[in-house]
Amino acid sequence: MTARGRFITLEGIDGAGKSSHVEFLRDRLRERCANIVVTREPGGTPFGEGLRAAVLHHPASALAEALAMFAARSAHIDAVIGPALASGAWVLCDRFSDSTYAYQCGGRGLEPAAFEALERLVHPALQPDATLLFDLDPALAAQRQAARGAAADKFERERADFFRRVREAYLERARRDPRRIHVIDAGGELGAVRERLASALRGALA
Ligand code: TYD
Repeated sequence: MTARGRFITLEGIDGAGKSSHVEFLRDRLRERCANIVVTREPGGTPFGEGLRAAVLHHPASALAEALAMFAARSAHIDAVIGPALASGAWVLCDRFSDSTYAYQCGGRGLEPAAFEALERLVHPALQPDATLLFDLDPALAAQRQAARGAAADKFERERADFFRRVREAYLERARRDPRRIHVIDAGGELGAVRERLASALRGALA
């Protein structure tokens, strides 16, 4: 029987820079497993990408947002993450359920308890083996976003206090689950962040 692959997730506030490290991480992971599946949330399937477009660009309640995230996640696990892990591939996923706790619960103020129940329904037997959390002061993250110059989606247009709450929710989850969630200081030069990332990854996969 093929051993289940590893499930690695990336998290952080908008502008913390996680997306610029995806290729680097894929290359590092290839040293450990020939088959790496890179995917993202919300999205990863046609159904999920449809929900992504809806949720990133149209106003909706925090609850509707959170339910859409879990609906997309359920389809993503069925069609992509679950089969890949079962085949022995390693999955690198840009955001997963920690994002819902950080954004919809921390940022928007929903109670996490209901989502713990939903999480048990949607992925009862699946948790990331390791989560790399890119941590950055929201003021610096906003500067990076502005420098990128890309059109902002609904979340990226949120104010600094929203991102302070999102960041705090992430850090609180990391304090509660330090074996899984590895916090990476995402400040400074790309090369320096990359070194910290490589070292966190070695620790996470040890
Ligand atoms: P992100 O993945 O950072 O994409 P990009 O780098 O293209 O902007 O953006 C997705 C947005 O969705 C991000 O602002 C966080 C938000 N999000 C939630 O609010 N809850 C969730 O559960 C997930 C997965 C994402």
